[in-house]
Amino acid sequence: MATTLVDQSALGSQFDEKNVHNHVTKDTNEVTLNGVSHNGFTAPEINSFGHSFRAYDAESKRQKGVEEFYRLQHINQTYDFVKKMRENYEKLNRAEMSIWECCELLNQVVDDSDPDLDEPQIQHLLQSAEAIRKDYPNEDWLHLTALIHDLGKILLLPQFGELPQWAVVGDTFPVGCAFDEANIHHKFFKENPDIKNPAYNTKDGIYTNGCGLENVMMSWGHDDYMYLVAKENGCTLPSAGLFIIRYHSFYPLRKEGAYSRLMNDEDRENLKWLHIFNKYDLYSKSKVLVDVEKVKPYYQSLVEKYFPAKLKW
Ligand SMILES: [Fe+2]
Ligand SMILES: [Fe+2]
Repeated sequence: MATTLVDQSALGSQFDEKNVHNHVTKDTNEVTLNGVSHNGFTAPEINSFGHSFRAYDAESKRQKGVEEFYRLQHINQTYDFVKKMRENYEKLNRAEMSIWECCELLNQVVDDSDPDLDEPQIQHLLQSAEAIRKDYPNEDWLHLTALIHDLGKILLLPQFGELPQWAVVGDTFPVGCAFDEANIHHKFFKENPDIKNPAYNTKDGIYTNGCGLENVMMSWGHDDYMYLVAKENGCTLPSAGLFIIRYHSFYPLRKEGAYSRLMNDEDRENLKWLHIFNKYDLYSKSKVLVDVEKVKPYYQSLVEKYFPAKLKW
């Protein structure tokens, strides 16, 4: 049975970035298909913004869903919660499987909520990876990074704790210091208990300038979990690859430059690769399916190069 999964890109800021792109395409199609003439008077299904009313309705429902998601996320992602999650998942005592087995496991999860993603997850992974491979043929580590960047979403499955959506997907942010205004739906942090804790509610909180993101506790989700799995299993991807896995949902940083004071020199170098990666992560949800069996040997060879045969999860 399919487990519902909200792709983090369907949640708020990251989605909106993509959505602008998609709406343009969709609306163009709609106008052509319905034969609506801009010179005539027959456009009852189209409102002043060019969206059909039905799409508008779906859009406002989506907005409400996104708001509710971030309300829960912002209330519940506290410093203590993250610490508990890290301690719990560091044990890596839930499964032993290869990277490819995990891709197939994630594949059972069909995303019901993202209208742009009715393909299995493995298609999103391979489409991102193949698109990057085309443009950066020599960076094999980047191809593999794209393939595995979302594997942490298995946290939604019963065997891996069946965590609620707000603890798996969505934008991520540091805990242990004040929540930057650049965070989407910042208002919902009002109810986060950390906001009353003097240790965590100042601008720098428990951190110092230039301390390096490695020393920052990020809200818990599929990014940090997959980073943990990769690191603890002795993955040999370069630090930029691990950085991408760990921070690809850190939207306030990569889009707004928020929290950049916490970065060190290595983070700044790695951030350049994250910017490159994100372009492919957002726009690769295409209708052109990748022939999985055809590309599998290539990705298997990369997995062998950078990972042990079996990993603890
Ligand atoms: Fe992701
Ligand atoms: Fe992704």
